[in-house]
Amino acid sequence: MSGATEGVLVERLSAWYGRVQALKEVDMDVPPNRVTAVIGPSGCGKSTLIRCFNRMHETISAARVCGKVILNGVDIYSPEVDPVQIRRSVGMVFQRPNPFPTMSIFDNVAAGIKLTRFHRGSELAESVERSLRRAALWDEVKDKLKDSGVALSGGQQQRLCIARALAVDPGVLLMDEPCSALDPIASYKIEELITELRGDYTIVIVTHNMQQASRVADHTAFMLAGEDGIGKLVEFGETKQVFTNPRDKRTEDYITGRFG
Ligand SMILES: Nc1ncnc2c1ncn2[C@@H]1O[C@H](COP(=O)(O)OP(=O)(O)O)[C@@H](O)[C@H]1O
Ligand SMILES: [Mg+2]
Repeated sequence: MSGATEGVLVERLSAWYGRVQALKEVDMDVPPNRVTAVIGPSGCGKSTLIRCFNRMHETISAARVCGKVILNGVDIYSPEVDPVQIRRSVGMVFQRPNPFPTMSIFDNVAAGIKLTRFHRGSELAESVERSLRRAALWDEVKDKLKDSGVALSGGQQQRLCIARALAVDPGVLLMDEPCSALDPIASYKIEELITELRGDYTIVIVTHNMQQASRVADHTAFMLAGEDGIGKLVEFGETKQVFTNPRDKRTEDYITGRFG
């Protein structure tokens, strides 16, 4: 187990795409080894926010970030920090499962391990098995590890992507609407998996499904773009509080379905 000891501390984080500002001065203290959900209407900056947590935002041309994202006491935007290293230690899973299309199930999981550390053949196989077990996929694929990753069902592909992310022992796992391309049963399995991983990883999940947020997340962040079109954090708190006793009227309007 990796065991993140710290969460993600976000200070006055703003983000731009060229001249267009997408996020304004977000402060957030994402607790370690817990699940945090990020909710809010489409376009409010949820994906932008979590892409700032592993320096993926800046891979978009003309994109820029200002503010701090502190991980294990280090601001990931400090000049001495290598963004490639950050993207390895902060894993990410996307809306559409994206296994490497030309690779087998085994190689999809092994790919990251091969890049990050020295290994002997047997150790590699053990690490792959451990990651597939952790992602609740091992029993379904153990007899066909050489098959293509893309031959799996959508839900299995998503768990394969989770296994691939876990294989390099990230402390933090970011998930951007990981269930929105999946059927209800496959979604349920991902939710179960998130619940199992809780405690060992700091998980941040963007979801537009409020039932899902209330089922899996310890804490919930509600974001909204203001009249200026710029995304801001409206409210952050324990999930139960946010859903049953929101502090902000806008949170209440959103969760009761009055807009969004
Ligand atoms: N690659 C991009 N280039 C330019 N603008 C973008 C890009 N991605 C997102 N945006 C803009 O940033 C804002 C926030 O988008 P996003 O973070 O994707 O919101 P959400 O995930 O909450 O739907 C939106 O106005 C969107 O149009
Ligand atoms: Mg998004």
